[in-house]
Amino acid sequence: MYTPEQQRALFDQSKALLQNTTGNSLFDAPEAKIADLIAVLRFHEWRYYVQNDPMISDFEYDQLFNQLKALEVQHPNLVTPESPTQRVGDDNSGSAFSQVAHLTPMLSLDNSYDAEDLRDFDTSIKKLCGLDKEEAVAYCVEPKYDGGTIALVYENDLLVRGATRGDGALGDDITANMRTLKSIPLRAEFSKFGIFRAELRGEALIRKDIFEKINARRQQDGETLFANPRNAATGGLRMKDPKETAARGLEAFIYQLGFAEDRDGNPVQNSFESHDESIHLLEKIGFKTPLANTEKEQHLPATKTCANIEEVIEYCLAWQEYRDEYPYELDGMVVKLNRIDLQAKCGYTSHHPRWAIAFKFRARQATTRLRDVEFQVGKTGAITPVAKLEPVALAGVTVSNVSLHNEEFIRSKDIRIGDRVLVERAGDVIPYIVKPLEELRDGTEIPVEFPEYCPFDETKTVKLARAGEEAAWRCPNCTCGLQAYQKYVFHVSKHAMDIEGLSKATIERLIEMGWLNSLADLYRIDYDAVSQLSGFGKRSADNLKAGIEKAKKNPIHRLLHSLSVHHLGQKASKLIAAEIGHVLDLCDWDLEKYQTIKDIGPVVAQKVFDFFHNPDNVALLREMEALGVNLTQTDDDKKADLNEDGPLFGKSILFTGSLTQFTRETAEAAAAAAGATLASGVSKHLNILVVGEKAGSKLKKAQELGTVEIWSETEFLEKTTGGSEE
Ligand code: IVH
Repeated sequence: MYTPEQQRALFDQSKALLQNTTGNSLFDAPEAKIADLIAVLRFHEWRYYVQNDPMISDFEYDQLFNQLKALEVQHPNLVTPESPTQRVGDDNSGSAFSQVAHLTPMLSLDNSYDAEDLRDFDTSIKKLCGLDKEEAVAYCVEPKYDGGTIALVYENDLLVRGATRGDGALGDDITANMRTLKSIPLRAEFSKFGIFRAELRGEALIRKDIFEKINARRQQDGETLFANPRNAATGGLRMKDPKETAARGLEAFIYQLGFAEDRDGNPVQNSFESHDESIHLLEKIGFKTPLANTEKEQHLPATKTCANIEEVIEYCLAWQEYRDEYPYELDGMVVKLNRIDLQAKCGYTSHHPRWAIAFKFRARQATTRLRDVEFQVGKTGAITPVAKLEPVALAGVTVSNVSLHNEEFIRSKDIRIGDRVLVERAGDVIPYIVKPLEELRDGTEIPVEFPEYCPFDETKTVKLARAGEEAAWRCPNCTCGLQAYQKYVFHVSKHAMDIEGLSKATIERLIEMGWLNSLADLYRIDYDAVSQLSGFGKRSADNLKAGIEKAKKNPIHRLLHSLSVHHLGQKASKLIAAEIGHVLDLCDWDLEKYQTIKDIGPVVAQKVFDFFHNPDNVALLREMEALGVNLTQTDDDKKADLNEDGPLFGKSILFTGSLTQFTRETAEAAAAAAGATLASGVSKHLNILVVGEKAGSKLKKAQELGTVEIWSETEFLEKTTGGSEE
């Protein structure tokens, strides 16, 4: 159907269209762009539905689809019958089952992806209903179940037909299979509510834990595994032998009363006021609906009637976080205008009802390119390969580094540098490479070579060894990794950035996962992913986040000290910090300027000078600043910098007599710099009295009190400047 070259070209074109790098200019013919979009969409439909092996995420597909739709709205004359927008999704299987016509067409849903989309939807609803902008409209929100769609017909209280969605007009007759699902009542008391014939819409699903068991059994039996619960469910609906359907553990959730009429063929549906009322009725007569409590302790109810769109948004976003705890696969939420009379006012397009919209959850899979593989050396010398990816947005974070664990992992998946790879960030949150897209290779991909020598310091001629039974390669007696590790340990330590909740063990784990490639990475930690690491949890991830957020606001002397510049100690960091407005001011400093700071010697000056003249370090600091780390001096910081931890911190001091070694002014400044506060007289609160020549009554009073330390000028000098250089 498609040659590898064609597939490569279509894939690249899709990516370009997604990034809007082609054909977006005013001068581009819309015909050409529409043709491009149709070609790529058709290709991805083939990959998804025919090959059962999608190459892009559903989210990316939807984006392309929406681009096409938007263009067609702008240029209605360019809509052609073969455009993917002109079909209602088709899942007809061909010959195996007989076809039946649905009582009303089974349409798709329009999609939304964020709060803004939902607000736009709300605005359009109000327009369609002729309501005031300020008026609140109620919506019913329920899960968007990710399984196989079904339509059930009841007549005279009996289940008479079950069908798949098919092309929306005709579906496969799967009545015999539907009758095996215990969650579907064979008889339900519709007649009590004046309904003679009803068509219900719903989804057949397999619980995630049951799906795992099914796949485990299939693996034991040497059968091919299902890719996901949805595939297992849609397959289960169409088994030739109903017993096989029964064995698959399908459950049916009913979410819509599609059609209802009385014995005379008059519509009954309009006698319901709201969607939630009809769902309550279905639940009452024995159906499993979104109202069902599916867990002992379900934190969020599966359906909610929201008074306005802001409540809808809050609820949808809460479910986005909660989705993995729910026992069934969901790919979003469905927002339905609650009042039936207003639904009727909105009506339908040929594709979807205008009164409902799907809120799609963030995509969990994406494709990107593997730029390189780097090797990280752990504290104990173990080498971890880390994939360097072209950054890609995935379920709310940007992913650019993922661990490849060990050589075995790379070999078994045959991952090569330059490959397009499918990346997933699923239930366990930690992103990983699912597979390379081998069919997109053009021969330029390079197999990953493991280093023979320590990647940290190649001059070291220590041949790597495989450590016992472990899959990891190791640098024997290596201390290289230790150095890198110690840089992080030092950065977060008490006297540097003082990051609580970031222990040495955590640093080690982060390095192992490939998440720490520079100090800046500490400030872009994915806390969701951390909370999933074994031995961690939400609480420790939250603590870590709090510690890091606090550290971002540190005074700049802490940051300077934390950078592991050789010889730059705490005291020198404070002295330098006091002279600058911004850390990167140091890029403009020459060596002499450091020498003007008392107590900064030539060795420290050279090291700091070198550090700030290395573009990598400057880039690192800029990156940290962009991530929220404070690089700016404030007046308050300036005072605090010099005071806290000074040798006289917390002491009160007073000078008396005439000073011979310095002026009163310099003496007082030195005392303040050492952290002391200046007292105005001798009292029991005074800690230190420094006496010059001809001291008088103050000295006498201090001697009488007996609680005051009395220092000579020389003693004062020793105490304030005699601290050793770090
Ligand atoms: S309402 C006219 N509600 O999503 C009403 N659909 O793209 C249209 N789906 O295949 C459908 N959960 O089967 C509705 N709570 C829910 C749903 C839901 C899943 C499926 C539906 C269809 C697709 C729409």
